[in-house]
Amino acid sequence: MASFFSKCCPCLLLLVLFLDGSSATSDLGTDPMMLMEGRFQLWKAEHKRSYATPAEERHRLHVYARNIRHIEATNAGAGLTYELGETSYTDLTSAEFMAMYTTPRPLISDDAATIITTRAGPVDARRQQVYVNESLGAPETVNWGRMGAVTPVKNQGVCGSCWAFSTAAAVEGIHQIRTGSLVSLSAQQLLDCNLLNYGCKGGFPQRAYNWIKQNGGITTDSAYPYKHVQGTCNKDQTAEARITGYTNVVSNSEASLMNAVANQPVVVAIEIAPNLQHYTGGIYDGPCGTALNHAVVAVGYGGPEGDGARYWIVKNSWGERWGVGGYIYVKKDIGSPSGTCGIAMDASYPNM
Ligand SMILES: *[C@@H]1O[C@H](CO)[C@@H](O)[C@H](O)[C@H]1NC(C)=O
Repeated sequence: MASFFSKCCPCLLLLVLFLDGSSATSDLGTDPMMLMEGRFQLWKAEHKRSYATPAEERHRLHVYARNIRHIEATNAGAGLTYELGETSYTDLTSAEFMAMYTTPRPLISDDAATIITTRAGPVDARRQQVYVNESLGAPETVNWGRMGAVTPVKNQGVCGSCWAFSTAAAVEGIHQIRTGSLVSLSAQQLLDCNLLNYGCKGGFPQRAYNWIKQNGGITTDSAYPYKHVQGTCNKDQTAEARITGYTNVVSNSEASLMNAVANQPVVVAIEIAPNLQHYTGGIYDGPCGTALNHAVVAVGYGGPEGDGARYWIVKNSWGERWGVGGYIYVKKDIGSPSGTCGIAMDASYPNM
């Protein structure tokens, strides 16, 4: 794996120092649970975590220990192309993580565009554009981050607002490409004002694009900052970026998705599988299915790596302490049309 993927984690260094220190001065280092406790304290300090009661602390230590054992057992598996490790979610059970950070779709995938336009009027439904482009001429690698079209990674917190963050990020991308100026746009404005979506319970990027178009634009993140909860729509905002609508990328075509991503960052839906709670590097190739439960942004693609693997560069909204500085690399060009974790099933981008 190229060093590009490795994650430099200061906690590991600290851990080594701690273990060296403790084993030199006492037999603390020989008791696995004491070791685990020491490691947990370091993790807590690094992630500024504290618990209300000693009972909760004990419970979280046990959850953490179970996760560490799962992480180490997974990493020990042969032929793994990715790594698991400590993230900001290491004290959560798998069920808690899935409930807090993924949002099963409120309406199962009839094309989201049809649903929106049923409400907005049938004319739009017929006009909805679908991007199909199977041609092979796209650049070998594309990285919109390196080209200055991607803002820093955001953190949605415990609110199913991935649809707002991914939509904002895609608009940030095309806004930078068209105007040359890179500005973080307001996920909170979408969360508060796009009431055809479901607030912290999830939503469709397609509805968010429609809202931005109808509203005459979206404002900046600094003018309308993120609050982690849905609030009342503040209508007194200046538009920073306007769009003319959106385009769906034809489903189940990684080739079309590649050509779309070569043009601009593209919102994609994926299935977050339980293992991704602990993802810290490498190219993720599963296990995961196609039950789409999270919206993120494909901001490029690359490869081949040493083993021939190509990957999508995907920006998440879970902060920088998950994944590779907040990003995940997802295996590209797999045999199945849906792509890894369903990444090619429901992609869309704003038109500007
Ligand atoms: C289709 O993809 C090729 C290769 O990326 C590109 O050169 C061409 O402009 C694309 N066509 C459209 C309509 O985007």
